[in-house]
Amino acid sequence: MSVYRAGYPEVYDLVMRHRGRDHPAEAAALARLVRHRNPTAASLLDVACGTGLHLEHLRSHFAAVTGVDLSAQMLARAATRVPGVALHVGDMRELDLAAAFDAVVCLFAVPHLRCTVELDRAVARLAAHLTSRGVLAVEPWYPPEAFVPGYVARDMVQERDRVVVRLSHSTWLDGARDRIRMTVHQADADPAAGIRHDTGTTDLTLFRPEHFAAAFGRAGLTAAHVAAPPFRWGLWVARPAGAAGAA
Ligand SMILES: C[S@@+](CC[C@H](N)C(=O)[O-])C[C@H]1O[C@@H](n2cnc3c(N)ncnc32)[C@H](O)[C@@H]1O
Repeated sequence: MSVYRAGYPEVYDLVMRHRGRDHPAEAAALARLVRHRNPTAASLLDVACGTGLHLEHLRSHFAAVTGVDLSAQMLARAATRVPGVALHVGDMRELDLAAAFDAVVCLFAVPHLRCTVELDRAVARLAAHLTSRGVLAVEPWYPPEAFVPGYVARDMVQERDRVVVRLSHSTWLDGARDRIRMTVHQADADPAAGIRHDTGTTDLTLFRPEHFAAAFGRAGLTAAHVAAPPFRWGLWVARPAGAAGAA
């Protein structure tokens, strides 16, 4: 069962804050990277935007921002964070908003794709939403060689009277050693509601740099992997072949 369900979005926000992901700094880094390549960029699409943690800050850098996510629950929370921002339920593998954007970003989400065929499809759909001078930024995740089988991650977050404890355990899912299964247990307690306990699994793919490079190439984009602090694994930046300047 997926971990993305009722009650999860709020816990996701708590855990991300606790882990110290710096969303204002990430939004600023994205804006710099986009403007360096496309100085007049005004519109941005955040694909797999989740609860809008980036959109909240990206909207001060771009005149018009739009979000898309597969999960209506995640989007419902985004709607409270960024009222007035256009948000759509959509699957990045089949995305068709009939619109083009000066920047398209996809952050902390590509591991949810199951294989390179899905990565190719998703990148092609993201590319289809770029203007001719548009900039695409995709955040990669752990490459397979960085994964520690049996890895246990733990978070304990306290906010006022509320305490959330989240434990996850990750193992290889298959012999190919590029898919992992993460089992998550979560306890969420406060004085009024007591303790709610939830478990779920999510399967994730550890794509290699060559998988990203091939997907961008097949989508007709020129791409490069760049260091982009504070993004731990950098960003893939891609542009339509023929757009002015390098990726
Ligand atoms: C770890 S969250 C990241 C959310 C947000 N980008 C952030 O950085 O906080 C991954 C998100 O990807 C979304 N997602 C997973 N598969 C997707 C797909 N095929 N198309 C669109 N969104 C997807 C999930 O619903 C979830 O909101």
